[in-house]
Amino acid sequence: MDALVQVTEPLFSTRRNPFADGLCREALTRAAWALSAAFREGTNLEAREAMCTVSLFGGIALTQAGLGAVHGLAGPLGGMVEAPHGALCARLLPAVCRVNFGRVLQQRDEDLMGRFSRLGELLAGVRSGEAALEWIEERVRELEIPRLRTWGFREDWIPDLVERAMRAGSMKTNPVPLRPEDVETIIQESL
Ligand SMILES: [Fe+2]
Repeated sequence: MDALVQVTEPLFSTRRNPFADGLCREALTRAAWALSAAFREGTNLEAREAMCTVSLFGGIALTQAGLGAVHGLAGPLGGMVEAPHGALCARLLPAVCRVNFGRVLQQRDEDLMGRFSRLGELLAGVRSGEAALEWIEERVRELEIPRLRTWGFREDWIPDLVERAMRAGSMKTNPVPLRPEDVETIIQESL
């Protein structure tokens, strides 16, 4: 799931660029079929190899374009609970996408709206931002990604996490500037 996040966030980053776009889009066509297959059948080498490519392309793309609020939150959160980085990113991704997509629609940002639609096309075969969000939410359910509470994260830690996340480097390249209340919503949705 971290591989998926790392080819999604650079596509929307404020530092997005054609080189990273190409890597991310190529990787997303693979993640679209391989993520579930690799999870369901661990011996499916074709699916595992495809996900390795996704991971590699994401690693390059993020150095070129930066990330976004998922990583802005997962970084400090990783210092507060003992949980795998990928599990935290996976849990945060749907809420971050929902908040970002809502703001992009409000602002009527044509480029970012088009990018959400294209994400839907690449992942779900439907050119719509809503289809992209539903596909992501479905994977989080299918892969049984634990909620943040599972790792011992407590509701009264939210203000501390919001403050730390607002200062994180990846937050600065989130496609839309998030307010502390947006970040709090994301955490609440992921609890
Ligand atoms: Fe990551």
